[in-house]
Amino acid sequence: MLSRRGFLRQSFAFSALAGLGSLPSFAKGPIQKPNASAKQLLMVGDWGYEDFTAQTRVATAMQHYVREHSLTTDALLMLGDNWYGSLPGGVASERWKTQFEDMYPKSTFDCPAYAIPGNHDYQRMPESKVEAELEYARKGGTRWTMPSLWYRFDFPASNPLMTVIALDSNVPHPEGPQAKGVNFTLTPERHAEQLVWLEAELTKPRTTPFLIVMGHHPVFSNGPHGDHKLLIQDWEPLLRKHKVHLYLAGHDHDMQHLEFDEHPTSFVLSGGGGADLYTLKIKEAQRGPYAEKVYGFSHLEVTPEKLTLRHLDETGRLIHTFDKMPDGRVQIA
Ligand SMILES: [Fe+2]
Ligand SMILES: [Zn+2]
Repeated sequence: MLSRRGFLRQSFAFSALAGLGSLPSFAKGPIQKPNASAKQLLMVGDWGYEDFTAQTRVATAMQHYVREHSLTTDALLMLGDNWYGSLPGGVASERWKTQFEDMYPKSTFDCPAYAIPGNHDYQRMPESKVEAELEYARKGGTRWTMPSLWYRFDFPASNPLMTVIALDSNVPHPEGPQAKGVNFTLTPERHAEQLVWLEAELTKPRTTPFLIVMGHHPVFSNGPHGDHKLLIQDWEPLLRKHKVHLYLAGHDHDMQHLEFDEHPTSFVLSGGGGADLYTLKIKEAQRGPYAEKVYGFSHLEVTPEKLTLRHLDETGRLIHTFDKMPDGRVQIA
């Protein structure tokens, strides 16, 4: 563990670097078509919006995309803000059918859907939506997978290529209160407990070529929510120390891919799943390589040699892609 002073020095050096505005340079690579023999995950963030017009467009594009490229989806990642508004009846709400089961149908996505909680899932309206999500997973018989608020899984289950650490990023507000109206957070004790668990998981000997961490709130974001002070303090040094390949997030309603000089982690944001879009605060020319106000979803393709991340828009058009090698090298098409 770093001393408090060392920790602050490191954080300061890093944020000074991050503020410079110079983009790291990358190797350029060709645009490659999806490789149907690789393992495939599709991910979507900020999707369970009350008006599901845009959600339907994105979900339809996901289905077309999978069919067009003859892909077998091995997992879905539901990046949080799974439910906006109320979820009447909890696990019995008809929204589960209309906005999850039928929206991302099993006939196309016959695989587990790994979910993490967003800030909207932590609202009590008046029932707890996140409790309903845990219960929906516990009752079984569906693809919804959320064994606890934070958990780890290997992907794919046999001969895994990635270790995925799914986190609850609903960390306490800096000012302290754990409830503001209907909005709740983890308690400081639970946040500390998760941090101990995260460090223990990251310290275990690596058994897969790739290590992925996902949390609803981005550590760094060019969107209106911006960079997250507490996650930069508590999680970012661990991502760096343990050479995490990707940090996947949602929360800002746009699509991003951020890289920082000397940082082993690629920061991916996929928040275009259906909720109203946000206007970016920082342009990709200042901090990138990619940030766009657009609806969409993301595709992560995995082989032992590389990860390929693709951002697709609501028509299934490729809007950004990069490869990441086990040694951390990034190649942008
Ligand atoms: Fe959201
Ligand atoms: Zn959010």
